[in-house]
Amino acid sequence: MKVFITGGLGFIGSHLTTYLLEQGEEIRVIDQIENDSLTEQFSCYPTYTQVTGLVEAENVMEEHIAWCDVVIHLAATLGVRTCVEDPTKIIEGNLFPTLTILKLAKAHNKKVVFASTSEVYGKSEDLPFKESGNRLLGATSTHRWCYSSVKALEEHLFLAAFKEGLPVTIVRYFNAYGARAKAGMYGGVVPKFITAALHGQPLTIYGDGKQSRCFTYVLDSVKATTKAIANHCDGQIINIGSSRELTINELAKKVIELTGSNSPICYVPHEEAFGEGFEDMQTRIPSTSKMEQLLNMKADTDIDDGLLETISWYRSLL
Ligand SMILES: NC(=O)c1ccc[n+]([C@@H]2O[C@H](COP(=O)([O-])OP(=O)(O)OC[C@H]3O[C@@H](n4cnc5c(N)ncnc54)[C@H](O)[C@@H]3O)[C@@H](O)[C@H]2O)c1
Repeated sequence: MKVFITGGLGFIGSHLTTYLLEQGEEIRVIDQIENDSLTEQFSCYPTYTQVTGLVEAENVMEEHIAWCDVVIHLAATLGVRTCVEDPTKIIEGNLFPTLTILKLAKAHNKKVVFASTSEVYGKSEDLPFKESGNRLLGATSTHRWCYSSVKALEEHLFLAAFKEGLPVTIVRYFNAYGARAKAGMYGGVVPKFITAALHGQPLTIYGDGKQSRCFTYVLDSVKATTKAIANHCDGQIINIGSSRELTINELAKKVIELTGSNSPICYVPHEEAFGEGFEDMQTRIPSTSKMEQLLNMKADTDIDDGLLETISWYRSLL
């Protein structure tokens, strides 16, 4: 199979690329960034081709969409902090690449698997979140919701394209974690906690830490994504996530224990970290029945095993 992955040097994209190359598939990746170590790793496979550029660039994209059997569209601009600091970047950085993908996929009638997010459910309390469930968002003046809104708009566009005959599947990822996830100020909570613990620095929890998430090992997210290519998933939206809930307090304690760190835990109010009026959801849990039925799998990597793998990768960077 010929697979064209957008954002293939990013966190999920790089794991997806590795996984599919190991399966013997022909892979082309487009990404706006360069990453010498990943390029070296992937280039060992004769079936790998890499393109540096923007997904918005139709002239660059056309030949690759024409070439492939399926596009897995991961390229996006994300991160809660970026939503708050630069909502325009989030909106344009998601919508514009998708418009190009849709135009070219329609022109060449190519299947697209689109990476959406659990953020589309917003602060809904209708748990577990079913793909057909309602969304609940705050005011547009709360910029945190712009990522949820733009991803939902992209979903509408993909579903509209499906109605017009384009084979499309939407996957909604729930908090993927693993090696290579972005750490630092703009990163997710797992890489932030691990890097802090490995450096003996405090693990900073926003809010009281009682909020929970369903952390999903990236290899589970990747396997589910590849299964979503199948024809019987056309026109479907599928949650991709573990159903095991973990509070941020529990996560922090686990990371400290598994790294053997002496780091303290400190608490910072959400408003102090993200500004006045910031909203967060207390919990989010996926309904996994569609994933189990359509993809015939569970995202059930044990959290301790997944964290240990992840920690060992971050440790290798020290
Ligand atoms: N990581 C998660 O837990 C999570 C959760 C929900 C949804 N998602 C979705 O999954 C996808 C992948 O997420 P990720 O965590 O791997 O993000 P990431 O930021 O690590 O990877 C995205 C990659 O896309 C590239 N990119 C972005 N815009 C581009 C453009 N216009 N042209 C070319 N390249 C571009 C970036 O350089 C980056 O390498 C995204 O669509 C994201 O919204 C991720």
